[in-house]
Amino acid sequence: MNIVTVQLPNRAYDIRIGSGILPEAGQRIAALGASKAFILTSPTLDSLYGQTLRESLDAAKIPHASHIFPDGEDAKQWAQLGSALSAMALAGIDRRACVVALGGGAIGDAAGCAAGLFMRGIKLVQIPTTLLSMVDSSIGGKTGVNLPEGKNLVGVFQQPSLVLADMATLASLPDREIRAGAAEIIKHGIIRDAALFEELEKGRPADWTEAIVRSCSIKARVIEADEFEILDIRALLNFGHTVGHAIEAAAGYGSLLHGEAVSIGLAAAAWMSVQKAGMPQAEAARIVAMLTRYGLPVHAPDLNSARILELLFRDKKFAAGKIRFVLSRRIGTAFVSESVTRADIEAAVAHAIAPSAPWQELLRP
Ligand SMILES: NC(=O)c1ccc[n+]([C@@H]2O[C@H](COP(=O)([O-])OP(=O)(O)OC[C@H]3O[C@@H](n4cnc5c(N)ncnc54)[C@H](O)[C@@H]3O)[C@@H](O)[C@H]2O)c1
Ligand SMILES: [Zn+2]
Repeated sequence: MNIVTVQLPNRAYDIRIGSGILPEAGQRIAALGASKAFILTSPTLDSLYGQTLRESLDAAKIPHASHIFPDGEDAKQWAQLGSALSAMALAGIDRRACVVALGGGAIGDAAGCAAGLFMRGIKLVQIPTTLLSMVDSSIGGKTGVNLPEGKNLVGVFQQPSLVLADMATLASLPDREIRAGAAEIIKHGIIRDAALFEELEKGRPADWTEAIVRSCSIKARVIEADEFEILDIRALLNFGHTVGHAIEAAAGYGSLLHGEAVSIGLAAAAWMSVQKAGMPQAEAARIVAMLTRYGLPVHAPDLNSARILELLFRDKKFAAGKIRFVLSRRIGTAFVSESVTRADIEAAVAHAIAPSAPWQELLRP
């Protein structure tokens, strides 16, 4: 059992990481003082792990009710959020109850939003079941749902009271989802932890526990330093995401997984770091080689660059027309730069959709 604590002013919470810890959920939730639990999950997760969770709540004598969102990104529809909130009211959920999110980032984002809104905010327990949600979305308090006008346009900050990452749940996760989650772990190494990056370079771990613990610690330290993304610290987590988000949207949500689009964005950010931040070419080549080694894409040859650029320049991160782009001078560090121009971004996108041999000059010895 590994515990990473997130120390926020007036409230700290634990991220517990270990194999077979789901059956302890009831006793942990009881320890939070919750009078009742409202489980939000999806059909797949409910059939795999719902019963274990409910049995552990029964054993801890915590009354519970559930509501099932659709699987995947559909959980984050505005109408789904409304249904969940109504179900909570009908189940008699009150301020002393807690929401338990059982699932990947989509469930965690929607359930976190429900917890943050219901009666102006009730406790939230995150039980992430994807590699991505274990190292990223379940920690840090960002929640959200989508509108037809765009992704994550509605949301609240709602820190969890507890995160329980049971490694055993990864056994049922499709390998493509594991690889997508690995992209975020690689990102954490690039921005904050060269030793983690080097460890991952040795090859894909058979057991992800150590990488998850390291990755959660990185995100925890970043959140502690800049919970509401006011300083330039939390923004560093967006390394690879400027181009990545635009590629994800241009491909059409669902065709490229978030982590896959981010992988292409990481390659673009590595290239940009060579151009604008003096990152040695060899380091950028290591990043691209790592992504390839983990079975992640580093370019999207079928996409239309005009569409990507249109989406990119609409991105909320381009506040007041100023381009703020996260760069790295060397693996293990990152900073927010204002020196990246529109032309630089256009060049990066051109590489990202190159039909073959993307980032070629990067990889040349
Ligand atoms: N809040 C944040 O800070 C934050 C950060 C990153 C991403 N996100 C959000 O997270 C979402 C993506 O999350 P995700 O990558 O976890 O994908 P996901 O939640 O969509 O899950 C992917 C698929 O895997 C299935 N699944 C989940 N766990 C499983 C398991 N253990 N076994 C078998 N199948 C399982 C799901 O049913 C789904 O079909 C996006 O909506 C993204 O915007 C939020
Ligand atoms: Zn991401």
